[in-house]
Amino acid sequence: MFKIAVLISGNGSNLEALIDACNKNIIKGKIDIVISNNPEAYGIVRARSSNINNKIIDNKEFETREDFDLALSQEIQKTNPDLIVLAGFMRILTPVFIEHFIDKIINIHPSLLPKYPGLNTHKSVIENGDTKHGITIHFVNQILDGGKIIAQGEISVKKNETEEELKKRIHSLEHIMLPKVVSKFADGSIHKD
Ligand code: GRF
Repeated sequence: MFKIAVLISGNGSNLEALIDACNKNIIKGKIDIVISNNPEAYGIVRARSSNINNKIIDNKEFETREDFDLALSQEIQKTNPDLIVLAGFMRILTPVFIEHFIDKIINIHPSLLPKYPGLNTHKSVIENGDTKHGITIHFVNQILDGGKIIAQGEISVKKNETEEELKKRIHSLEHIMLPKVVSKFADGSIHKD
């Protein structure tokens, strides 16, 4: 069975899309663990209500990023997943973590990378008057939002569209694309070359 670990920090709507796709066998795999660095993350409630093994590792309890990453890495090693999905995980990972799981970590980012790495992507799109926006799913390496791109989805920005409206449409696109990409990992049609 293809084993997936999902790391979250917040609402977890992308996690929910993955849970749904596993339940429907669209992803031929199993979410073995959900880990949040944020004790308040609603995604943990979603994991619990779907009876998925879950764990909070609060980054505030660690002195350094490396200490946190080590604890995270040790927890993940217990389940030895085939894929680690960062689904709204708002922490920059250090080499301690990345090198251990190299080529197994993917991230979903709400912009058409390499445009707008980091935060506030919807705001930047609107402020710059961009006509296109989108999402990127990519491998994670040492560079923030800089790893090899696996898939991108694009939408046209509507005239006078607000940040909230745009964010909502981007989320809908994420919920379609992330399960599709993860299902391709599970059936072996995507792998790092
Ligand atoms: C998504 O927009 C994702 O691209 C970004 O964080 C957001 C997480 O949303 N990395 P959710 O927690 O899955 O609802």
